Amino acid sequence: MTTLLHLNVSPRGERSHSRQAGSVVRERLAAHRGPLTVIERDLGAEPLPPIDAAFTDANLAVAAGGDEQAPALMLSERLIAELESADMVLITTPIHNFTVPATLKTWIDVVVRPGRTFRSTPQGKQGLLRDRPVLAVVACGGAFHDGPGSQQDFFTPYLKYVLGTIGLSRVEVLRMENMNRGSDPVARSFDHLRAWCEAAVPAMVD
Ligand SMILES: Cc1cc2nc3c(=O)[nH]c(=O)nc-3n(C[C@H](O)[C@H](O)[C@H](O)COP(=O)(O)O)c2cc1C
Repeated sequence: MTTLLHLNVSPRGERSHSRQAGSVVRERLAAHRGPLTVIERDLGAEPLPPIDAAFTDANLAVAAGGDEQAPALMLSERLIAELESADMVLITTPIHNFTVPATLKTWIDVVVRPGRTFRSTPQGKQGLLRDRPVLAVVACGGAFHDGPGSQQDFFTPYLKYVLGTIGLSRVEVLRMENMNRGSDPVARSFDHLRAWCEAAVPAMVD
C-alpha cells in the first residue's frame, strides 16, 4: 500500500481552498494507486513551535558529531521519520507574501538539517533522503502573469530548491490563482486542478 505524507497548511479549516484541493488530489491518487495509508500533519490546526536556542544548538552540533538523540531534536526526528516513511508527499497550502507560510517554513527548518537530511560538501549541499515525488498545491488570492498588477512567485523556486537540498528532486507545484476574486475564478482553478490531476499526478507517481 502507498504511504502518503499530507502536509496541510491553511489555518482556515473547511473554508480553505487548499484543503478542498487536497481532497481532490487524494481522491485522484487513491483512484490511481489504490487505497492510501495517509500520515496527516496538520500544520494549520497544530502549528509547530518556533525554532528556539536549544534546537538551534543541537541541530548544528549533529553535523559536528553531536548527539542525534538530543531531547531538543525529538520533534524534528519525528517529522523526519514521517517523511522517511512516505512514498510520496502532498503539500496543500496558501501562499503568504509571495512564498511559503511561516508554519510551513518552520516544518522546513526542523526537517532540513545538516548531518541528518543533507551534508555539506565542497560541491555544495547533498541530500541524504531517498527521492520521492512531492505534489504541492498552493492557493493564491491573486494572479501571476507578465502584465501590470501581477506578482512574483518565490514559492515555487524556493520549495523546489529547499526540498532538492535534502534529496527530493521531483517536486511539482500547481498554483490555484485568483482565489480571492469571486466564485468564477475559484471554479476555473478547480477545473484546472482536476486537469492537472489527470496529467501530472500519474506522471509523477508511477
Ligand atoms: C498573511 C497573508 C498573506 C498573503 N499573501 C498573498 C500573496 O502574496 N499572494 C497571493 O496571491 N495571495 C496572498 N494571500 C491570500 C491567500 O493566499 C489566499 O486567500 C488563499 O486562497 C488562502 O488559502 P486557503 O483558502 O487554503 O486558506 C495572503 C493571505 C494572507 C492571510
